[in-house]
Amino acid sequence: MKLVLATHNKDKITEIKALLQELPIEIYTFSDFDNFPDVVEDRDTLEGNAEKKVREIYEITGMPALADDTGLFVDAMNGEPGVFSSRYAGENVTYADNREELLKEMIDIPEGKRDAVFKTVIVLIVNMNGNYVVEGRCEGYIGFKEKGNMGFGYDSIFYLHDSGKSFAELTLEEKNKISHRGRALQKIKKVLEEITK
Ligand code: IMP
Repeated sequence: MKLVLATHNKDKITEIKALLQELPIEIYTFSDFDNFPDVVEDRDTLEGNAEKKVREIYEITGMPALADDTGLFVDAMNGEPGVFSSRYAGENVTYADNREELLKEMIDIPEGKRDAVFKTVIVLIVNMNGNYVVEGRCEGYIGFKEKGNMGFGYDSIFYLHDSGKSFAELTLEEKNKISHRGRALQKIKKVLEEITK
């Protein structure tokens, strides 16, 4: 089976490829196409955005497609940055800008009240008969400063309750075992295993 990953994000591609590597699937990414669009994520839910991404890519490539959409939801911030996680500090910002903005906005929120959850929704489209939708979550809290230098996005300020480590202190393998995307991918992997049997 052929599968297109509906994303331009190289960090995500690395994580997804690592998790699906044992399956009999030929993975394609944006670099395999000349006309790969940059789909605008303008829906107000993770599922809406992921659905929009796979549908557009499926229509253009004619191949089964998989998209994920992720958000970091902070309890004390009424769920922000949430669906707007990639542009929390504004348009065309860096990961570091978003982290800095979140730390600044949360400066007065005390320890013990900084809980947050990463959520990933993955949508898989194989044909026109409907989509498969799965969700993965990972609970933690936002630290007061950055720690670790692996990963991407908000990894260095997202800490795990059990170990007190940030995501940026975990290897890719360690992160994939417990992360929102890792958990969602494990679920979609089961679906793909069934389909490719
Ligand atoms: P996207 O819309 O799914 O690309 O994700 C939105 C934003 O969430 C990204 O720009 C990253 O800043 C952040 N993000 C997504 N996945 C992760 C992750 O695994 N760790 C840390 N930040 C992430």
